[in-house]
Amino acid sequence: MAARIPQSFIDDLLDRTDIVDLVDSRVKLKKTGRNYSACCPFHKEKTPSFSVAPDKQFYYCFGCGAGGNAIGFLMELENLNFPEAVEELAGKAGLTVPKDDSITSQAATEASQAKTKARNQAYDLLNRASQYYQSQLRRHSDRQKAVSYLKGRGLSGQIAQRFGIGYAPTGWQNLMTELAPNGSQEPNQEQHLIDCGMVVEKEESKRRYDRFRDRIMFPIKDYKGRIIAFGGRVLGDEKPKYLNSPETEVFHKQRELYGLYEARQQERNLKRILVVEGYMDVVALAQHQINYAVATLGTSTSSYHLERIFKLVSEVVFCFDGDAAGLKAADRAMLTCLPFMEDGRQARFLLLPDGEDPDSVVRQIGKDQLSQRIVEATPLSDFLFQRLGKELDPHNLEHRAKLATDANPLINTMPKGIMRSMMQARLSKITGLDKDTLAELAALKAPITKPQPAPANASVPTPIAAKPEPKTPSDSTHDYADYHMADAESQADDNANYWHHDEHQAAPQMPQDAAPSRNFNANLPKVQNPAQAAIRVILRHPETVRQISHIPSHLSELQMPDAAVLIQLLTTVQAMQVTLGRWPITSEVHIECTPWDAWPMLRQLAAMESLLPLGDHAHQLQAAIDKLLEHHLDERFNQLLHQVAQPNADPATKQQIKTLLKEKEELQKRLKSRQ
Ligand code: UTP
Ligand code: MN
Repeated sequence: MAARIPQSFIDDLLDRTDIVDLVDSRVKLKKTGRNYSACCPFHKEKTPSFSVAPDKQFYYCFGCGAGGNAIGFLMELENLNFPEAVEELAGKAGLTVPKDDSITSQAATEASQAKTKARNQAYDLLNRASQYYQSQLRRHSDRQKAVSYLKGRGLSGQIAQRFGIGYAPTGWQNLMTELAPNGSQEPNQEQHLIDCGMVVEKEESKRRYDRFRDRIMFPIKDYKGRIIAFGGRVLGDEKPKYLNSPETEVFHKQRELYGLYEARQQERNLKRILVVEGYMDVVALAQHQINYAVATLGTSTSSYHLERIFKLVSEVVFCFDGDAAGLKAADRAMLTCLPFMEDGRQARFLLLPDGEDPDSVVRQIGKDQLSQRIVEATPLSDFLFQRLGKELDPHNLEHRAKLATDANPLINTMPKGIMRSMMQARLSKITGLDKDTLAELAALKAPITKPQPAPANASVPTPIAAKPEPKTPSDSTHDYADYHMADAESQADDNANYWHHDEHQAAPQMPQDAAPSRNFNANLPKVQNPAQAAIRVILRHPETVRQISHIPSHLSELQMPDAAVLIQLLTTVQAMQVTLGRWPITSEVHIECTPWDAWPMLRQLAAMESLLPLGDHAHQLQAAIDKLLEHHLDERFNQLLHQVAQPNADPATKQQIKTLLKEKEELQKRLKSRQ
């Protein structure tokens, strides 16, 4: 006989299922007041008498009398028996139906029942807390202060009400006194308040006090509208600006999106969802009738978030501040998004000017203009190439190789489809590398990162280069602090448009030595220094040495070891020309170099023929040598600066610096004039 499914499991399953979503996926629902309605799927009718109550998680047809919960709905609609319907719902919720009798043991059942009870207690307390905070906004003697703050931020009472915004008054035990008064019927009420994050107990003194004091309170709701946590903002400039509920039995911040419930209440059939960073952004946007914004809760966008979003809409737009933290958030969101990009789905990115956020922008430019920008935000494919191409020079071979090795594994995390093929084609076009070479590179340089754990019910692979997503609060690495840490590196110029607009201009400056891989951690071939770049050109095209009439003296002064190899190579090729009476061909040069200590490096440089840039090789050689001169001038400049800072510096040093700067200026002019 099949094992009985424990009631506790069924409770848990119903708890995790939203009947509105379930019904809506089969029968399109329309919001009618508190409930939703449709024409009944169980009998023929022209006017809707079928209704779904989200608060009761129940459906009922006034026409034919059909009614029940989510399991009953599936049984009836799909003609399933009870275990089959449970199985199907469990699959959707990412749960496994316990089959093993041992799991149905008394102890396990009791533990599970206790959990359900604790959760219900938490929902109840959090709901009462929210009622209390809202009432304080109307009644407390300090209410004026809180109301003025909200008004000052441009919020109407109506919007505050829609989001259930409240005020936690000053004082250490307001909420405690309200919800767990002395002589309360429930003796463990204080402990329950601690469990749901509203009261803090000091470890040493065991003193208990309200977590949120003198703050504007934003209740965070789950998809069923149950309050699961709060965010509280100070009214002034104190720190921390926002305080959030800790992780609890009912609140996992990695999974929740602030404002999603409210957005769906406003519009059941959302077209797109806008992901922003802050509570205030969501609320301010709603104030301007942009009702589809949600905020992550001080964490980066997770796979859980995207699962949820793409269940509801096919388009997501990320709108972040244009500062370093915002860019970082956008990069992470992009990585997390890629595995979700089935054909028909879209992700876009809207980066606001530095120092602005959606709240400030919507107040400046208003609904219409901002909506326009949202619609026109950069599609994920453009964004990916912009971000990866930043700081890379499309004329430089190694940079193109780097782009290929960066982009290829990311594109490969996308589900197979037209979008992925188009991005591969685009990568081929930009890098000049055909599909086979890209595949070769991918095999050569595939990052050795273990796949990250996916959410329980995610069927998609997760991005290779993204950090694994924490499953538990204790190993959370995407925390607020981490996320908002000023990242000096990503503040560097954003040359996002290189790949798009500069393709036909001459090479922008090559980075000094190895270009750091700033954004993405894929293992990359090292971007060679200019000496190696020059060596590479000579090895493949020895005749380009023709234009190097004499070997520039600065080469021998460089600290870089590869510069010595370059001199050796230049000298050798010139000598061969004299002996042969013509410029040597590639293989002749290679034979000549085989006995050198540096040969293994040279061979490597020569090996990837397919990666050699197209175009004027003589020009490339000259550019690399000029770059080395610049490098030399910089080295020299640093030395002189050091000297001039010494107590008894030679006054001539200053003059030398001046001369040097002049030289550098001339070099730069020369470089420019060649572009
Ligand atoms: P921001 O610092 O960008 O604040 O934090 P904001 O949203 O613009 O807030 P206002 O406009 O000054 O009121 C963005 C989000 O980061 C989290 C919150 O979720 C906030 O909404 N955050 C921020 C914290 O958790 N703690 C903080 O101290 C600050
Ligand atoms: Mn703000």
